[in-house]
Amino acid sequence: MSKLSILFGTETGNAEMVAEDLAAALAGNGIDTEVSGMEDCAAEDLAGQDVLLIVSTYGEGELPESAAPFFEALEHREPDLSSVRFAAFGLGDSTYDTYNNGIATLVAKFTALGATQIGATGYHDADSGLNPSDVAIDWAGTVFAPVAQA
Ligand SMILES: Cc1cc2nc3c(=O)[nH]c(=O)nc-3n(C[C@H](O)[C@H](O)[C@H](O)COP(=O)(O)O)c2cc1C
Repeated sequence: MSKLSILFGTETGNAEMVAEDLAAALAGNGIDTEVSGMEDCAAEDLAGQDVLLIVSTYGEGELPESAAPFFEALEHREPDLSSVRFAAFGLGDSTYDTYNNGIATLVAKFTALGATQIGATGYHDADSGLNPSDVAIDWAGTVFAPVAQA
């Protein structure tokens, strides 16, 4: 696969930590990545990219603050993402009714704009007590191993 662009949206840093730890783990498996905050990503530059989306959920099921402008750009500019492949990992807390709505919102938007999802969406539940990076690295093994071998 081409270079994987890891985009994170975070409120208190967990998604950024997961993004950095996943980048290190994927590098160890021969997958080259570039990590960016969604606030630094222009929606119209996504065409042709392989993307890994990592976001938490805040408020009442909303995307975190740092992901809001990126999502608004997707909504208003409606870029053609038919050349984009993406994987998705969400961070949430199952004690909320709106468990992991943030990543679900982004997956729905990417799909509506024509992008193709690789593998199933991964989730971290803060209520589980598990380390988010450990959960994400286990999940990535199921999603990216077949891609890396392709
Ligand atoms: C004020 C507040 C609101 C939250 N709202 C939700 C929510 O609606 N749904 C959910 O699944 N998780 C919710 N969470 C849990 C966070 O998504 C979770 O703690 C996550 O690990 C935070 O990641 P971040 O540091 O990258 O933002 C909330 C957490 C806080 C502190």
